[in-house]
Amino acid sequence: MSSQAPVKRVTAPDITARKGAEPIVSLTSYHAHTAAIADPYVDFLLVGDSLGMVMHGYETTVPVPLELMIVHGRAVVRGAKRALVVVDLPFGSYEESPQVAFRNAARVMKETDCGAVKLEGGARMAETIHYLVERGIPVMAHIGLTPQSINTLGGFKTQGRTKDQWAAIEADAKAVADAGAFAVVLEAMAAPLAERLTRAIPIPTIGIGASAACDGQILVMEDMLGLSPRVPKFVKEFGRVGEVIKGAISAYADEVRTRRFPAAEHTYAIKDGGAATKSKARSSSARATKRAKSKAT
Ligand code: KIV
Repeated sequence: MSSQAPVKRVTAPDITARKGAEPIVSLTSYHAHTAAIADPYVDFLLVGDSLGMVMHGYETTVPVPLELMIVHGRAVVRGAKRALVVVDLPFGSYEESPQVAFRNAARVMKETDCGAVKLEGGARMAETIHYLVERGIPVMAHIGLTPQSINTLGGFKTQGRTKDQWAAIEADAKAVADAGAFAVVLEAMAAPLAERLTRAIPIPTIGIGASAACDGQILVMEDMLGLSPRVPKFVKEFGRVGEVIKGAISAYADEVRTRRFPAAEHTYAIKDGGAATKSKARSSSARATKRAKSKAT
């Protein structure tokens, strides 16, 4: 038996309980090593389907397959020991019916060991959210700009900039909360609307381009690190990791080309500590002594 108490992982109910308390901190993560680095600082990590665009070069999140989410979800769960890991259900894996959604969400939970799933959509997904939650699957909802609907939205457009859009978005927020979602992402939404929704519903709102009034914030990790070539207005770059990587790679290329890398400290000596060379040297010096002796006599 291990003498160390296992680290307690944050759960979906822990996140819900944070409503109105200290802001909830979250980031996306797609790999074990970035998950391990972020783990001590965040409450949850989202394996977002944005990985299709960020890591795999797709133009949108629409083509992302379920299997890809599972592979990355597993990696993040292995890397993060404390944070709740939420995995996105990709486009086409849940919209058809609550039963299809359950089958795919259960597969994600079993194969990644994550603690919750996220899906996009408000009132239209309420029945599915209820169905999953009733069957043991914590669901984070996602409303406002929902990138999987890019083809019907006609682009990555900020939501709720005119007041005539507010009632429908507010109905979405209330529907997902009533259906049992443990939290809801508000993406690219006019600040006064995000503030109104945060006051109106009993579950935490997690903002991305939705103002500091939300109960928590999320950003795509590569965007806030300064690794993405283009970022939306709502992103603050907290680092210039792209510049650091460029500097390191150009120094490496330069040292390889000028044969300064690898240096002696990066190479291996032979394992017997030079015994073969030493014994060769010993026998040749013995031969020399013998020759010298025979000359002298
Ligand atoms: O896929 C994703 O990264 C997301 C966040 C932007 C919330 O859904």
